[in-house]
Amino acid sequence: MMSELEFEKSILGQTEIKRFAQVTNTKSAFDVLDEVSWDFKDTKTQYLTHRFHSYPARFIPQIPRTFIKLFTKKGDVVLDPFAGCGTTLVESQLLNRHSIGNDLNPLATLISKVKTTPISTKRLEIITVLLEKIEKEIKSNNRKLKFPKLPNRNISNIFNDRMLEEIQIIKENIDELDDKEIFNLSLVALSSTIRAIIESENGDNILQIFKNKINMITETLKEYSKYVDNQTKVSIITADSRRLKNVESNSVDLIVTSPPYVNALDYYRVHMYNMLWLGMNYSAFKQNEIGGHSHHLFNRFRLLSEYLGDMLRSMIEMNRVMKKGKVCAIVVGNSSIDYELIESYKHFMNMAKFIGFEVKKTIFRNIDKSSKYFSNGKIDDEFIVVLQKMKDCEHSYKDDEFIAKVVRKELESFRERVKNNPGSSTRGKHVTAERLKKNVDKIDEAIKNVEKDIKFVEV
Ligand SMILES: C[S@@+](CC[C@H](N)C(=O)[O-])C[C@H]1O[C@@H](n2cnc3c(N)ncnc32)[C@H](O)[C@@H]1O
Repeated sequence: MMSELEFEKSILGQTEIKRFAQVTNTKSAFDVLDEVSWDFKDTKTQYLTHRFHSYPARFIPQIPRTFIKLFTKKGDVVLDPFAGCGTTLVESQLLNRHSIGNDLNPLATLISKVKTTPISTKRLEIITVLLEKIEKEIKSNNRKLKFPKLPNRNISNIFNDRMLEEIQIIKENIDELDDKEIFNLSLVALSSTIRAIIESENGDNILQIFKNKINMITETLKEYSKYVDNQTKVSIITADSRRLKNVESNSVDLIVTSPPYVNALDYYRVHMYNMLWLGMNYSAFKQNEIGGHSHHLFNRFRLLSEYLGDMLRSMIEMNRVMKKGKVCAIVVGNSSIDYELIESYKHFMNMAKFIGFEVKKTIFRNIDKSSKYFSNGKIDDEFIVVLQKMKDCEHSYKDDEFIAKVVRKELESFRERVKNNPGSSTRGKHVTAERLKKNVDKIDEAIKNVEKDIKFVEV
């Protein structure tokens, strides 16, 4: 096991290590933010449990680590309301800060749980028995298997009968495990196996992929347990960020989060096969996912109203749970709708001022555009909006009238920008002025429908 300093040296630059150590108060911490090399080029990002499962648009661990080191001390509470695969939680745990991870995606919370649960070596013996049993059954299957119904999508064609059978044998053997934590980590190994098959479109040796995954997870957890202190608490909640039901008011010392982007990707679609095989019910997630784009097909700008309303509610809840004077870092990229650039970070900065936050900094960072999930031309660059809670927000997440008023204002200024500078996305240059004029009409229509589009049905 490496010492704390050796470990830091392997994941952070020299300047960061030196400057983080010199920070004495919040004011000097804000100054240090300007000196960080935010692209963290050539540093490791897939260390320890971070490598357990791929996850679209996750952030690199150095982002939460930087904020945790600069703005909290040991024993403080860090929250990520859009925790995804748990990057913030792992970094908090490694740094002995308690953490709360919230996400509505049940697969996300399962992965986060496994990544932050050290397991004693003794209990890992159960896995040896599990693997032997699965291997035997795959050779001579006598089980009456109950297959999940796969959706009518092209991806389903990747799975032939032999593959379906092998995956199902693995799943049913996992279901028979009594040990909850071994059960969870086996499910994550299976889910990661399914993703590997989908991404490579190859399932020649499913058992071997599963064995490699489960061995990697168990070996890594053994190593991880050396770095974490059992007294550090990690709470993981499967809930909606617009209503942080299980998080107490004025209890959080830092928020570091990256919310979904507007009109970029639907997580429930990306994870549908994993969730189906794992037997997860994802209907609540499908209905309430923020940033999804499977509706408003004729006027995509209505997705923007909906997104801003959802984000404003989430930010009101973030304000509620934070202690006064504490910091909230929101990482978000630009996206585009119908050839118009959507600068979400600017909307967040404007909205934050109405709900008790002060904008302290906006940090620009280069993102790796070769990444599969960013290569669709919709997402350009990434920004970190750094806020400080100055006072309690006077409005609740339920205040539809207030939400509609703020979102309308944002859309009106967006409409002015589109009028003055139409087609501002990368692809906008290739479109006729006539086509772009239609966007102003669509934004007008979105403004008229704001009250309707920002509605939130709490479940
Ligand atoms: C950009 S990802 C976060 C990735 C995370 N920072 C990580 O490193 O893994 C955004 C997350 O928001 C979640 N999400 C979408 N709608 C949500 C909602 N209504 N409530 C809570 N989480 C939601 C998605 O499931 C996804 O995990």
